[in-house]
Amino acid sequence: MKLCMIGTGYVGLVSGVCFSDFGNDVICVDRDLNKIKNLKKGIIPIYEPGLEELVIKNYKNGRLKFSTDLKMSVSRSDIIFICVGTPTKKKSNAADLSQVYNVAKEIRNSISKFKIIITKSTVPVMTGDEIEKIISQKKTKKLFSVVSNPEFLREGEAIRDFSYPDRVVIGTADRRANQILKNLYSPLISKGAKYINTSRRAAELIKYASNAFLATKITFINEIANLCEKINVNVEDISIGMGLDKRIGGRFLRAGPAYGGSCFPKDTKAIITTANQYDINLSVIKSVIKSNKNRSSILLKRVSEILKGKIKNKKICFLGVTFKANTDDMRDSSTLLMIPSLIKKGAKVNYYDPTGLKREFVKYKNVICSKDIKSAIAESDLIIIHTEWNDFKSINFKLLVKNKKSIIFDMRNIYSSIKMKKLNINYFGVGR
Ligand code: UDX
Repeated sequence: MKLCMIGTGYVGLVSGVCFSDFGNDVICVDRDLNKIKNLKKGIIPIYEPGLEELVIKNYKNGRLKFSTDLKMSVSRSDIIFICVGTPTKKKSNAADLSQVYNVAKEIRNSISKFKIIITKSTVPVMTGDEIEKIISQKKTKKLFSVVSNPEFLREGEAIRDFSYPDRVVIGTADRRANQILKNLYSPLISKGAKYINTSRRAAELIKYASNAFLATKITFINEIANLCEKINVNVEDISIGMGLDKRIGGRFLRAGPAYGGSCFPKDTKAIITTANQYDINLSVIKSVIKSNKNRSSILLKRVSEILKGKIKNKKICFLGVTFKANTDDMRDSSTLLMIPSLIKKGAKVNYYDPTGLKREFVKYKNVICSKDIKSAIAESDLIIIHTEWNDFKSINFKLLVKNKKSIIFDMRNIYSSIKMKKLNINYFGVGR
């Protein structure tokens, strides 16, 4: 099939490359000429394991193309995926849909035969209705069908999530479009993915409700972790015990720092804004946002307790500063709150991140980026394990840490408290 992905950000690029890898003819369009030039050379704008290899392979075999020419790309394609950003608006919590609507206006001029227009960007309920309205101002409804097909890709796991999804959600009442899309996704359906055809509005809401629910699960276990710390119980035992109940499930029950990233913070705010418009109070999601905001303060209080209130002049090292492992994404990472707060209290912070220097911290005189794990931790008073990169999972602290009074605060519970105790290492985890 001939596909066109509009927007070569996370969603558009990963989906486009994966679609081309299973045999489709895909053109990825972006208005950013530099990005397109780089992609043609195999230079990828984001850090995502496995993506570079797939881009190069499919660009070379000719199934994957890159262009800045939206008109030509839309004209030659049967299915158009809108994959542009829907960030939070500057002055409110609503999603900014200007890029989506601009694309809809541009597309409508290039429709001369039947096309399926799909929103893959995360868009509030009824955005599809609006896109249909915009296009039908210029084109008869017989020439196009607007469908919602949300993505559920995690950064760092995006290729796998695309290739082995739990479900493919298609929101459309148009039987012809549904059949074409079922064909498009047949390689995934035959591997076991459930295919769900529902209404367009339901598909749009499934995406927001899923992200809000996952954010709720994480926040829930983070609060239970706070209680565990007071009563000498290991939160991981609670996660296992709860997760074995099939109604609950064990995933997304790992206690840790505040959740961050490009989706959960933005989507939880956006769904509340949508509900407010209908006078519906999503009180659970509201308290999730509040609790998550407070999470970094709770962990900072714990840091202060661990250091017995003496933060001034302490050398504090962060292993990992992005919002989670296997990504270079700093959006809404809890380190953006924790590191400035610690240096304000007089700490000297250094960090090591496998994805390198972060421009967010360049302005702070007392924040240094270390070149490797060894030099990062050698002289630290406190080592904070902030993300769960494999690189941090078998560090020989006994050998590498020169400061014998050094303490470890493992915010991801990577290590066993019992083993650390046996090694005589002063070690703290979360919720235990
Ligand atoms: C998320 C959704 O999972 C994905 O389906 C959606 O399409 C985009 O948003 P992503 O933001 O890439 O993906 O990361 P995810 O792995 O979901 O983690 C989000 C945050 O939750 C991170 O800060 C992570 O550290 C945290 N988290 C996740 C936990 O603290 N505990 C967990 O058990 C799981």
